[in-house]
This record gives sequence, C-alpha cells and structure tokens, in this order.
Amino acid sequence: MLDPQKTFYLEIFGCQMNVHDSEKVIGTLLAQGYRRVSTVEEAGLVLYNTCSIRDKAEQKVFHRLADYKKLHAQGKRFGVLGCVAQQEGEKIFERAPHVSLVCGSASYRNLPQMLVQLEAGNQRVTGLDDRETDECFETEFTARTNPHRGYITIIEGCDKFCAYCVVPFTRGKERSRTSDSVLLEARQMADLGYSEIQLLGQIVNSYKDPSGKMTFAELLAAVGAVSGIRRVRFTTSHPRHFGSDIVAAIESAPTLCDHVHLPIQSGSTRVLAAMQRLYSRDEYLERVAWIRAARREISITTDIIVGFPGETEAEFEQTLSLLEEVEFDAVFGFKYSPRPNTPSLHLPDLVPDEEKARRLAVLLEQQRGIQKRCYQRHVGQVIEVMVEGQNVARGQWTGRTSQNKVLNFTVPNGVIPVVGSFIPTLTTGSFPNSLLGEMVV
Ligand code: SAH
Ligand code: SF4
Ligand code: F3S
Repeated sequence: MLDPQKTFYLEIFGCQMNVHDSEKVIGTLLAQGYRRVSTVEEAGLVLYNTCSIRDKAEQKVFHRLADYKKLHAQGKRFGVLGCVAQQEGEKIFERAPHVSLVCGSASYRNLPQMLVQLEAGNQRVTGLDDRETDECFETEFTARTNPHRGYITIIEGCDKFCAYCVVPFTRGKERSRTSDSVLLEARQMADLGYSEIQLLGQIVNSYKDPSGKMTFAELLAAVGAVSGIRRVRFTTSHPRHFGSDIVAAIESAPTLCDHVHLPIQSGSTRVLAAMQRLYSRDEYLERVAWIRAARREISITTDIIVGFPGETEAEFEQTLSLLEEVEFDAVFGFKYSPRPNTPSLHLPDLVPDEEKARRLAVLLEQQRGIQKRCYQRHVGQVIEVMVEGQNVARGQWTGRTSQNKVLNFTVPNGVIPVVGSFIPTLTTGSFPNSLLGEMVV
C-alpha cells in the first residue's frame, strides 16, 4: 500500500544550481520510498527549493508559504530548502510555524536522516551546515528531467563575497569534486544517452581538483572527449579566473560549445571595486579580446547590476558604452537589491528605485538594438541545432545553437525531427532573441 504521507510536491526557485540540486533531492526522496505528485493538494510533504538572490525572490517563497498555511491543518508538512533556508535558518519556524523542515544546500546529503525525523513527528528538523562543510552533495539517485541534456555540479559554494551577494552565506564555502568523480558521472550520462552536459558552479572556473590531476580547462577538454557527448557547456565563469587556457580548450575541442557566460556587473572600474569584483573594466575587456581572437566565433553573455549604491549617471553610462564595445549576445540585467548580511547592505547613496528602473529600461533597450545586429549576422549561415521541441501552432521546430541561441526552423514535408538530435539548418531570418531557419537536407 502506498503511504499517502510519503508523497511530495517540490517547487523550484532560482538558478540552475537549484534546478540541479532539486534533481538530486527528488532522486533522494524517491530512493527513500517517496512518490512525487504534481499539486500541493495531493502531497503529504510540500517542499520549496528557494532563492534569495534578490528581495523579490525571497518574498515569493513567504507568499507561497502563506497561501498554503491552512493546508497544514490537514496534516501536510512543509519544508523550506535552499538559499532562503540557509539564510533565515530557524527564524523561518517563527515566521511560518507550519514549516517543520529547514535545510540549506550544504546539508542535502543528510536528507535521508532528516526525513526519518520528520516521519517520527519532529516539528523542527534542521540542516544548516553552512560554511562548515567541505563535502559536496554527490548521489547516485539524480532524477534528471531532460533525457538529452543534463547538469553536473563540479564545484559548490563561493568564497568571493562580492559586496552585494548572498551566495557565500547561503551556499557555503568553495569545494570541488575530484575530476575522476566528474568524469565518471559524465561517462554514465553518455551511456544513458545524454549528448549535452552542462558543468555547473557558482564560479565554475574556480574549480580546483582535490586530487590535483586537472585544471578547469583540462577538465573541460576531458568531459568534451567523453564518447557520445556532443556538447559541453559551463556556467558561471568569473572574469578574475578566466584564463586564456579556457579559450584554447574551446578552440581545440569542437564539443565545447561556442559560448561563454561572463558576468561583468558594471562597466565602471570604480563601481567594480566597490562591488569587490577583483577586476577592472580593462581586465574584463582583455578577456573579451582573447575570446574574440578565437578561430571559432564564440558568443559572450553577461549579467549587469544597475543602481549599485553610489553608482552615478556617468558610471552607468560607462556600462552602456561597455555594452556597445563588447556587443554581448545576451545581457541579464538586474536592479540592485540590498541583501541581508552583505557588505553593501549599509552603504550610503542608495539609488532610488525609480532611477534603478529607468537605468534598467535604458540598458535593456540599448541591448535590444545590439542583439538585433548581432543576431542578424547569422542570416545566411548553416548552423547545427540540437532539437528541443515543436511549436505546433507555428508549424515550426525549436532548436538551440552551440552559441546558445534559440533557432526556430521549418522542416520539409513528412520529416519529423527527433528531439535531442542534431540537425543542420540554414538561417533565413533573425529577431533580437531568436533566429529563424529551415532544415538543410
Ligand atoms: N556566481 C555568479 C553570479 C550568481 S548570481 C557570478 O559571480 O557571476 C546571478 C546574478 O545575479 C549575478 O551575476 C548578479 O548580476 C545578480 N545579483 C546577485 N546579487 C544581486 C543583488 N543583490 N541585487 C541584484 N542583482 C544581484
Ligand atoms: Fe555572488 Fe560574487 Fe560569488 Fe558570484 S562570485 S556567487 S556574485 S559572491
Ligand atoms: Fe538564488 Fe541561491 Fe541560486 S540565491 S541564484 S538559488 S545560489
């Protein structure tokens, strides 16, 4: 008989690390005899894997918890996982008394024991290891959702303490997996039919092999050489640790994708110093020059924060001029959000919210123009895509290029592309965020 209490619902907020952690948490719960259900109503255990990178993300979780509070009376248990759990700790029990599990990502390896405590009726189960642990969460029970493309975490945590950022407080200290363990997982995935692997880390290029065998660039090349793997991506790279050896690795291994996500945050060297980013505008541009000098065209995407405390109009304009100079293939822009524990929380000269919103709108509008030009350059090229699915209404298929661009394409009558397969397409049109093409036969 299935125990109705041993059903769980899990909602995921936040970044790819949270998505992949959730796959491991789901696998762990399934291995403990739990069954996943798709609604809160059906579940005995309701879990939220949370994000606290900006205030809005954190508030979402507390709203969700408030929405479902009354279901607690029906015997449902609630758990908060991830970055808000680690950040707020036991305070969550005060704010949301119906929660009985609070567990940060550095404690997931203890989940089986915590589940036993929950089942025994413990109302306050915690896993808040924080920066104490040197261990990574490795499990054989990862429940990956996409059968073609999968994540592998190679490094957890962050030791950088950028002035605005909660991650060093929510994800613990930097700890890498051995290259042997990463390569074993990559080979297992290839055997299961995966053709794309995305290596993950808050700073993926801070990777330090505990066994001393490989540098990050060597690990990239080694994963790219695993038989059956057609594409390897990695995210996120920190400019400070971005060496030319990474570009050399991409150049020499066709399986390494033509894309680098390299967050700059600001185009002003003064603001970068205030953010404690550990590089200048010129040092960032030097790395861009290495990438641009590669024999293959490599796309570059970035993250920007507007309205950091003290950012002047002139400094914001330096970010705009940097966008023109680099011509990024995509920009993720954010309004600065003051976060608990972070060094910038008490900085003076807050930029008013309306001004942050204005700067963000200007930034995104300018980038739209840049992307229009940048995507236009692909028209006429034959580009290989990995097929992701069909848009029946439009009579199109959707794929992704090695540069990580979405390419919608048509196919000849009677042809049905296989999702996860690789297909050459001729690019016939472009928009600021996608390309249009037709399958080449
Ligand atoms: N580890 C990555 C960033 C992870 S967080 C790196 O170092 O680049 C993803 C992005 O969220 C960051 O690049 C930054 O642009 C944004 N971000 C982080 N903290 C923020 C804050 N307090 N307010 C606004 N945006 C923030
Ligand atoms: Fe946050 Fe900076 Fe670490 Fe990135 S490098 S996770 S922005 S502290
Ligand atoms: Fe959010 Fe934590 Fe990721 S704060 S962005 S879920 S590391």
